[in-house]
Amino acid sequence: MEFFKRAKKINPVILSAKKDAFSFRINHHRGTTDEALAMLRDEGYEPVPVAWAEDVFTLPIAQRKSIVKTKAYTQNRIYIQNLSSIFAAYSLDIEPEDWVLDLAAAPGGKSLIFSERAKKVSAVEPDKARFFRMKRNFKEHGAKNIQTYNKDGRFIYKTCPAWFDKVFLDAPCSSEAHIDGEVTWWSMRRVRRFSKLQKELILSAYESLKPGGQMVYATCTYAPEENEGVIDFLLSRYPEARIVPVEVPFSNFQPGLAEWEGKEFHPDVRHCVRILPEGAYSGFFMTKIAKP
Ligand SMILES: C[S@@+](CC[C@H](N)C(=O)[O-])C[C@H]1O[C@@H](n2cnc3c(N)ncnc32)[C@H](O)[C@@H]1O
Repeated sequence: MEFFKRAKKINPVILSAKKDAFSFRINHHRGTTDEALAMLRDEGYEPVPVAWAEDVFTLPIAQRKSIVKTKAYTQNRIYIQNLSSIFAAYSLDIEPEDWVLDLAAAPGGKSLIFSERAKKVSAVEPDKARFFRMKRNFKEHGAKNIQTYNKDGRFIYKTCPAWFDKVFLDAPCSSEAHIDGEVTWWSMRRVRRFSKLQKELILSAYESLKPGGQMVYATCTYAPEENEGVIDFLLSRYPEARIVPVEVPFSNFQPGLAEWEGKEFHPDVRHCVRILPEGAYSGFFMTKIAKP
């Protein structure tokens, strides 16, 4: 099948990775790291700290089902989220006075991270059912500084041009990182459709950013058309945009591809980061962009 051929060409590791762990972060709106860890240890769990963050931990995948019955989980003191997503959200380097736009926000895991660090967060989600679930998620986790908007992210820049200090675009994508064995829903048509939507969204994200602000573009897919291709497109429209190199504190990653199927990308696309699946890390693509 074409997906497997393409994945092998990008990096064969993609197809052989085994998910043997899962990860969670502490929800500081509901208590401290020590409190949550003590509760988990009381119930027999031994969370392993992650080297690059004080409030992120892993556990063996065999404990993924039972953790939802623990007090720490039912009291919303921990939030299950994969390491790649957490790392990408932390990479935006939110500061206490920041106003953050999360342009494709449901179910809201990244907005919850921003809400702990920023002054306020605007979370946009066009899908009605996902939007209301996200609102409930924010309420349950005690986040009070998130405004929610049931809107299409492609047009946000029109009402909010150059408003935000930081923007995160966790783009809707063909989700190739979630393919596990048989796949029936993958097609090149789908990849092309998402690539078109992502290009519209990244322009809206960039236009919504204040001069001097920074944004992160991310996907959970491997398709270069949805990753390097979208960044290359942004740089062709806004030659002044700068790709900010991200220091990656783990080894399972590769830089952005220089070319794909005969198309050479802008040389700065090498600063994009492709996180490779391993342990509690899912396959992920992220790029940090600065607006001069
Ligand atoms: C990868 S998910 C976001 C995950 C989320 N950031 C988190 O960490 O919990 C992408 C989201 O984009 C939404 N989406 C789809 N089309 C959109 C559009 N035109 N504007 C904004 N969001 C869109 C999808 O409904 C989906 O909820």
